[in-house]
Amino acid sequence: MTDKTAIEQAAQHLKNSHFVAVLTGAGVSKESGVPTFRDALDGLWAKYNPEELATPMAFQRNPKLVWDWYTYRRELVGGAQPNPGHYALAQLEQLVPAVLVITQNVDDLHEQAGSSNIIHLHGSIAQNKCFNNCKGTPTLIDIAALDYDKDAGPPACPHCGGHVRPNVVWFHEILPALELSQAIESSQRADVMLVVGTSGLVHPAARLPALAKQSGATIIEVNPDYSMITRLADIKLDGPSGDRLPKVIDALASL
Ligand code: OAD
Repeated sequence: MTDKTAIEQAAQHLKNSHFVAVLTGAGVSKESGVPTFRDALDGLWAKYNPEELATPMAFQRNPKLVWDWYTYRRELVGGAQPNPGHYALAQLEQLVPAVLVITQNVDDLHEQAGSSNIIHLHGSIAQNKCFNNCKGTPTLIDIAALDYDKDAGPPACPHCGGHVRPNVVWFHEILPALELSQAIESSQRADVMLVVGTSGLVHPAARLPALAKQSGATIIEVNPDYSMITRLADIKLDGPSGDRLPKVIDALASL
């Protein structure tokens, strides 16, 4: 299938859809200069592997080290802008009856691009919460309102005195229950699932395309490489999402 045909076929399926679920991963933010999860382990962080930083045990062992890594990652993400792929997904909302973006990413680039219906399966790096969730799950904490020594590691929770931590899902942690159940229900209801920029290696997010397909959805994947989702894809757009998604939207708008 040529790329032009794939783009036209993808546009036609979207045209006929009533509800499109979009699953995104780090690849959709790559052209915004946001390093993928594993890229953010370079420079002075190169000597660590994710399991030494992104786990509750690592945080309890050395709260300042983990807090400083997330401060570094927030700086990396903070300067990023949405790319044409994010904007194309936001524009999709004007062209089909209903769209839900289910993202594994912890950046807020879908929000910045204007998508209005978003589920964060792995949390948001811009948010913080009490490590003990002392007022409920999650107990979100606005650290801008706290007076603490920025060089001394994480601030203390103003309610219980425990550590404040990033509101992201770490290894060995379960995903937020409400977000996961909404993502599963939506995947089973969608008539098209657009899978953009994910290796499909990390569960349970990686299971969503199979659930959608089992429920009759057409799977359209956008990824320059082969992924664990590719074998499920009815249509594969082999290229960067910042290039392919705008082309699909242009083709859809002209139908
Ligand atoms: P990965 O880094 O595992 O995969 C990124 C995917 O994006 C790969 O398949 C690339 O081929 C593809 N890609 C690269 N550039 C792209 C581009 N310009 N356009 C489209 N695709 C592109 O990231 P994820 O699949 O998101 O979990 O990883 C899932 C999870 O692994 C992350 O959410 C994180 C990590 O453990 C948590 O933080 C809990």
